[in-house]
Amino acid sequence: MDKRTPRLGDVQETLLIPLYARAVETRKPRGMLRDPRAVEMVDALDYDFSRFDGAKSLLGANLRTLLFDLWVRDFLERHPSGTVVEIGTGLNTRFERLDNGTVHWFDLDLPDVIALRRGFFEDTDRRRMIAASVTDPGWMEEVRSSSPGPYFLAAEAVLIYLEEELVRSVFRQIAERLPGARLALETAASRMVDTQDSHDVLAKVAARMRWSCDDPGALEHWQPGLSLTDSRTLAHLPAPVARRLAFHYRVLLRVMATIRRRDIEAYRFNLFRFPAE
Ligand SMILES: C[S@@+](CC[C@H](N)C(=O)[O-])C[C@H]1O[C@@H](n2cnc3c(N)ncnc32)[C@H](O)[C@@H]1O
Repeated sequence: MDKRTPRLGDVQETLLIPLYARAVETRKPRGMLRDPRAVEMVDALDYDFSRFDGAKSLLGANLRTLLFDLWVRDFLERHPSGTVVEIGTGLNTRFERLDNGTVHWFDLDLPDVIALRRGFFEDTDRRRMIAASVTDPGWMEEVRSSSPGPYFLAAEAVLIYLEEELVRSVFRQIAERLPGARLALETAASRMVDTQDSHDVLAKVAARMRWSCDDPGALEHWQPGLSLTDSRTLAHLPAPVARRLAFHYRVLLRVMATIRRRDIEAYRFNLFRFPAE
């Protein structure tokens, strides 16, 4: 079979990292997650994925994915017909993992990514792709006018690549257009952003994180009524996520949480809730 060459901008290329992470894990006999579509897509792409081999960050990416899955699943248990927007979806397969038969779903990313994604996924009556930047509020109008709330916005490994002013404007737009929305995103503290050139996977790509945030709690001040409802590090994940990791890595994370506490604290996964109207 002819392989497809992904033609992607620098930030867009980063989608290949979590995709590969899920494929690697799926190929293991007792991996922490199963994503056969990720294996298919990695096999179908003409890209040198071996540059990421052996990077411990792949495990971190999978733990992050499992935590975001848990948050979305929890939302869908409360709101089975709610709407999920996967912001900066890349070639993510969260819908495949979590579809409950009634959720409304949007996969949003930049046009070159959506063009690539359309080679692997199709729109259906409950799931649509949107080619747009997260910073363009037009997508919020499209979501609001065509799909019922409440809304869950999953921005996994996306906003860290934007300048802070743009992240602030995304928060402002969400508060205005999608009141009551939940927003899941990670934050990278300045010590992580400042040392990213030696990061085990980021060093292999051209994209660079732009937004550093030392205290996700401080984002509550960005919008009146915004609340941080959960915030986790890799070493403090909910049990259903943590126990998917092999025992020796769990021990390693605990040790790191003690001897390299500031490094562990520098990377956080956060769940926000915007005030309702
Ligand atoms: C590290 S990848 C994460 C992909 C996916 N969330 C996952 O976990 O598999 C970052 C993604 O964010 C997307 N992205 C970056 N800037 C964006 C923007 N301004 N608007 C929409 N998507 C963006 C990239 O194209 C890429 O797909």
